[in-house]
Amino acid sequence: MLDFPPKNIQTYCEQHSEAFPAEILKEIERYTHLHVLMPQMISGQVQGHFLALLSKLLAPKKILEVGTFTGYSAICLAQGLQPGGRLLTLDINEELEDAVNGFFKKAGLEQKIELRIGAALDIIPELSEDWDLAFIDADKMNYDNYYELILPKMRPGGCILIDNVLWSGKVAEPELKGKKTIAIDALNKKIMQDPRVERVLLPFRDGMLMIRKK
Ligand SMILES: C[S@@+](CC[C@H](N)C(=O)[O-])C[C@H]1O[C@@H](n2cnc3c(N)ncnc32)[C@H](O)[C@@H]1O
Repeated sequence: MLDFPPKNIQTYCEQHSEAFPAEILKEIERYTHLHVLMPQMISGQVQGHFLALLSKLLAPKKILEVGTFTGYSAICLAQGLQPGGRLLTLDINEELEDAVNGFFKKAGLEQKIELRIGAALDIIPELSEDWDLAFIDADKMNYDNYYELILPKMRPGGCILIDNVLWSGKVAEPELKGKKTIAIDALNKKIMQDPRVERVLLPFRDGMLMIRKK
């Protein structure tokens, strides 16, 4: 994960970003760091609050997330759902299913968030075509496939967020090394030229692409 901004700036950002609903998110962070491999995959406070605030600004009816992990980002994104709105989150890892559903319940969101276990590539083609907001944050080699499957299912004006698009800064090296770096760079370049969307690459944490379907 890219150490950007530097640690002291990151701490300053955390101190000046509203923490909400503080207790359950802190509990998920503690659980993730104590019990789960690769805890650094969690969104964390500043990115979490960004997702929540953006969701509140967009007021989506339907949110799709690819890559639940321990449920942190799903709880953040769900903060902006309209009354009656729903968030569907997909993850291939069934080992975390009970813990994550427990967190959704504790957050009072068990009626609003559905966790579906399985490979996202199998599930997404079966979904309806009316998503307002999508967050792609799973296996990097399939990012392009997720983008191509999800974009036609977004409503015009809908927003797709793609996480880790700077890949620890490796995409900006003079010589690209590694399959994931090359795949992410190719996707960034493709989306930059994609006439179906407007986009901005935010140099935020590990890089976040914010995309609006025309
Ligand atoms: C970076 S973590 C997600 C972090 C989470 N969105 C958050 O911010 O807290 C990536 C997740 O993608 C899941 N994943 C990996 N391959 C997948 C696949 N083929 N289909 C669905 N989920 C997958 C992993 O199990 C992991 O939990």
